Amino acid sequence: MNRPSTSIHGQWSSRWAFILAATGSAVGLGNIWKFPYITGENGGGAFVLVYLLCIACIGLPLMMAEVMIGRRGRQNPVNTIKSISKEEKKSPHWKFIAWIGLLAGFIILSYYSVIAGQAIAYVFRSFAGVFEGVTPDGAHNIYATLTSDPERLLAWHTVFIVCTMTVVARGVTGGLEKLVTFIMPALVAILLILVGFAANTGDYFTQGVEFLFSPDFSKITPEGVLTAMGHAFFTLSLGMGAIMVYGSYLPKNTSILKVSITIAIADTVIALLAGMAIFPLVFANGLSIGAGPGLIFETLPIAFGHMAGGALFGGMFFLLLVFAAWSSAISLIEPAIAWLVENKQVSRRRASVTAGFAVWLLGLLTVFSYNIGQHWILFGKTMFELLDYLTANIMLPLGGLFIAIFAGWTMSKKSTQEELAITSPIVYHGWLILIRYIAPAAVIIIFLNAIGLLG
Ligand code: PHE
Repeated sequence: MNRPSTSIHGQWSSRWAFILAATGSAVGLGNIWKFPYITGENGGGAFVLVYLLCIACIGLPLMMAEVMIGRRGRQNPVNTIKSISKEEKKSPHWKFIAWIGLLAGFIILSYYSVIAGQAIAYVFRSFAGVFEGVTPDGAHNIYATLTSDPERLLAWHTVFIVCTMTVVARGVTGGLEKLVTFIMPALVAILLILVGFAANTGDYFTQGVEFLFSPDFSKITPEGVLTAMGHAFFTLSLGMGAIMVYGSYLPKNTSILKVSITIAIADTVIALLAGMAIFPLVFANGLSIGAGPGLIFETLPIAFGHMAGGALFGGMFFLLLVFAAWSSAISLIEPAIAWLVENKQVSRRRASVTAGFAVWLLGLLTVFSYNIGQHWILFGKTMFELLDYLTANIMLPLGGLFIAIFAGWTMSKKSTQEELAITSPIVYHGWLILIRYIAPAAVIIIFLNAIGLLG
């Protein structure tokens, strides 16, 4: 299997289209739903500092590796890794890395879609003024009413999967690129409006910003450090081939270093802005910052319900969440679609219908884990928790570890130097040290923690 010089799926129309698409993949539920609540649970500033350090030392080199591998192979991750291995005269079995990734993307999308579906439901509830003057009990009940009804959850999950697969079916430039060029500016605009809204809370805004940026190291635990590392990984969409497949559509003479830095910075800035939009509202209403996963769906509506213009801003907030999830969802399934089209000779449309149906079906496990399947417990976890644990804590770190090893050790220096085309030897060797030693070591630590070996 030889490496083609362009992908059969087409190519991003510009470097900026790639940056938008990859940033769209990175910015998702992880930034707006997960980052604020794990920061809240881990005491703020010190946690944020560790997270930023991880983005720079693990996330960035790994992102460069994925883009580099993708652009060199120019096929779906499985075929890409196979043909690079062959060229490097290494075992074709390295392709198992891509298989873990394909499967991880598939499973993540199945539950991601259910959460995104809840966000769609909340867009309507918010704009309709359902949260006006709501009490904490009331907010809890509204969420419980939505999640305890399998039919409602299923309907929203279906809507989200159909939206996702419709875009994917239209292809790289006609679907993915079109969506992100519309969504990303809208997302940034909404976020800035919401930060402006939060800034109106005066002192509480300062309190929110201080919570994010003034580190208090007494509040950070070893587990907190590991959570920060794991999240750096998830939020940049690394370890499962999403960035790799996007890299396979990247024009030849684009600087991988520059685009990767841009994407990592954009993702980080958006997560921090989300924190700046959310924390002041929580403080202003005297609510608990450490509410966990319910922060967005149960705590935040109380804040919106008690502020002037809350229905409008609340609706915009959930719209932001839906947009962010949408542009991530397409990247979760793209590796599988590219594989189906290349290896099973089916049309993109057909591949999207088939994969979409399979993901939808798997999503039933998450839908039911909120209601009729609440008591289906395996290893002490509901189905949703189990799928989340399996992917975020096991499959992504494992995938990322192997990608780092593949890029740093299996590929020759000559190939990586040629593909990255970094002119400064210091920068190239800095990358090599990070990808060969630092990133694998860090990922092993995350992994051991995830399976509980570090207590
Ligand atoms: N980065 C996305 C988020 O923060 C999630 C994601 C993970 C997307 C892996 C693609 C691949 O929500």
